[in-house]
Amino acid sequence: MKKIAIGTDHSAVELKSQIIDYLESKGYILSDEGAYTDDSCDYPDYALKVAKKVQKGDAARGILICGTGIGMAIAANKVKGILAAVCTNTLMAEMTRKHNNSNVLCLGVRVSSHRDILEMIDTWLETEYEEGRHRYRLNKISDIENSKL
Ligand code: RB5
Repeated sequence: MKKIAIGTDHSAVELKSQIIDYLESKGYILSDEGAYTDDSCDYPDYALKVAKKVQKGDAARGILICGTGIGMAIAANKVKGILAAVCTNTLMAEMTRKHNNSNVLCLGVRVSSHRDILEMIDTWLETEYEEGRHRYRLNKISDIENSKL
């Protein structure tokens, strides 16, 4: 699990560069899906780019950052196979890996400090999915996605 796709809207372009440098220094391979300037832009465009990379297996995981993380998660979760989670603390980042097997992490630059964002990213990348009883529950989510319910 070394390749990570990352995208932000205008609110977190500079922070994205810092995260890329940080994760590259730890050996991850980053795919920067934009935005590339702080001109106002639309978060769903970047959520889609990152989600598609993860869906196709071009990236093992995705990271999305906007003002709150919420819009990114709503948009990314429209892409089949994506389990995108908004996190505001490290416990959420840990639990959403262990229990939800989330493959996209959504963060908010207006709600979390840069330091907390880096901590959440570390936790989320380093925590494994527990499977077990959680697989059955995730299958139910897949059933909803596949409109079996
Ligand atoms: C952009 O103004 C803002 O709506 C966006 O960054 C994000 O917070 C949406 O959920």
